[in-house]
Amino acid sequence: MDRMKPNISMAVIRRLPKYYRYLNELMEKGITRISSKEFGRILGFTASQIRQDLNCFGGFGQQGYGYNVRELRDEIANILGINKTKNAIIVGAGNLGQAIANYSGFRGSGFVLKAMFDINPRLVGISIRDIKIMDIDDMGEFIKNSGVNAGIICTPKEGAQSVADRLTGEGIKAIWNFAPTDLEVPEDVIVENVHLSESLMVLAYMMNERDRMENTQ
Ligand code: NAI
Repeated sequence: MDRMKPNISMAVIRRLPKYYRYLNELMEKGITRISSKEFGRILGFTASQIRQDLNCFGGFGQQGYGYNVRELRDEIANILGINKTKNAIIVGAGNLGQAIANYSGFRGSGFVLKAMFDINPRLVGISIRDIKIMDIDDMGEFIKNSGVNAGIICTPKEGAQSVADRLTGEGIKAIWNFAPTDLEVPEDVIVENVHLSESLMVLAYMMNERDRMENTQ
């Protein structure tokens, strides 16, 4: 059943993976149900925020019972679409590309890594966790034959736009972009940017604020 209502805010969507992760942990501990108050306490959210978030999708809890952990976990997986398999390729098989290929949690998000591509002939032919690094010139053919749904860009920023153009030109409609640049893509292409340095700057800010508060006390 598709419970998703239109116009759910991205802020809510971005909290769902955290719900999912904690629900998995609760299941591993054998906990079968949880109140919104207790769930909120674990997550650091208020009970009303949890109820509000989950109500966006039709609400899963029952008054006086709370949430069935497995049911809620499965519903969130369904909403996120992580129970559907998606094929991905990495472009740029350097330090980061190889680290991502080595990341074992890939499948938990519904993605299966099919291949990596690079321009460096010294990398072509090497395998990382059984994932072959192939020549970038073979990418178009591979995409056509292997049902690729998403591209992961791990090239230096100078090459990222041309890689994005190549991916979208081959019909790829979803890009996970690690290169520190804003990509220009056709309207129907989804880009999710990941920038560790931005998160690190937020950490720097919070450390700075803490120091500032301590010094004014
Ligand atoms: P790297 O130099 O180790 O690897 C880059 C790879 O891309 C090389 O193997 C190179 O041959 C390949 N490449 C270059 N142009 C290409 C093209 N047009 N098509 C295919 N392959 C191409 O660099 P590293 O450390 O792996 O970083 C890769 C990118 O990721 C950089 O843009 C870096 O700034 C970014 N980065 C982003 C992070 C984030 O949090 N978003 C964290 C770390 C790195």
